[in-house]
Amino acid sequence: MTTATDRYAVVGHPVAHSRSPFIHAHFAAQTNQRIEYGRIDVAPERFEAVVREFFADGGRGLNVTVPHKEAAARLAATLTPRAADAGAVNTLYPTGDGRLCGDNTDGMGLVTDIEVNRAYPIQGKRVLLLGAGGASRGILGPVLARGPRSITIVNRRAERALELTERFASRGEVIGGGYDIAQGGTFDLIVNATSASLAGNLPPLPSAVGPDTVGYDMAYADNGTPFTRFLRERGALRVWQGYGMLVEQAAEAFFVWRGVRPDTRPVLDLLEGSTPSRLDTDP
Ligand code: ATR
Repeated sequence: MTTATDRYAVVGHPVAHSRSPFIHAHFAAQTNQRIEYGRIDVAPERFEAVVREFFADGGRGLNVTVPHKEAAARLAATLTPRAADAGAVNTLYPTGDGRLCGDNTDGMGLVTDIEVNRAYPIQGKRVLLLGAGGASRGILGPVLARGPRSITIVNRRAERALELTERFASRGEVIGGGYDIAQGGTFDLIVNATSASLAGNLPPLPSAVGPDTVGYDMAYADNGTPFTRFLRERGALRVWQGYGMLVEQAAEAFFVWRGVRPDTRPVLDLLEGSTPSRLDTDP
């Protein structure tokens, strides 16, 4: 007799590059959970139909990646507060009554990576957030919940930064505008949430990177991103790429689905190239 294995997958377009199957396979082995985790490549026109079919066939959970996160938020019958804040969903699962719930673990993934893995408390810090797209919106709630002194959101199209500022203004000191508003001061933590790195570009960064500045690029690349290289050249204290955010958002999704929290360190070490000393210093 065979025991049915719970099915999960990451859905995106393209999705061949996704590391999620690798990460979840490690989590499952480590926690003795019997799951299968695949990849589904689907274009936007077919997204909803494919998701509904996956769950109708007994699928237990999906991770959702580019470009479907907003569509997933529209499709879910209920949203967790953090998914509603983000306006985007990266984790879907059926609730008891068979309706789909949408969650978003990206912001928590970023905060856990910065505060736990990198041991850098956000409380009291002056944070500069580059970009005002979906990635920024997804992390603002969790970052503000950690009590930074201020968050300055800058974007090429200043009006998008101002929209986000308005949305989150009641939760802390949030300032927004074009890149010019970040000139003339230094920041403790600079987070790159633009998609510039993906195209090999650097956002128009303020010159003021001080010796105590730490940088975090939500993107990652084998030889570092233009952002991480720039900050290193400017003498930033520490610079991190988004591998840890990737692993932590996956761990949180795994916890939402399975009720078990995996140990993220071994997987992060594998993704980052192993020895802990490389975490902060290598691209
Ligand atoms: P995502 O959901 O990944 O955030 P998005 O909503 O398309 O994607 O947003 C992309 C973000 O990257 C935006 O903040 C965009 O700036 P604009 O709103 O001004 O377009 C930013 N971005 C993309 N390429 C950039 C570049 N070369 N320099 C600076 N910002 C860039």
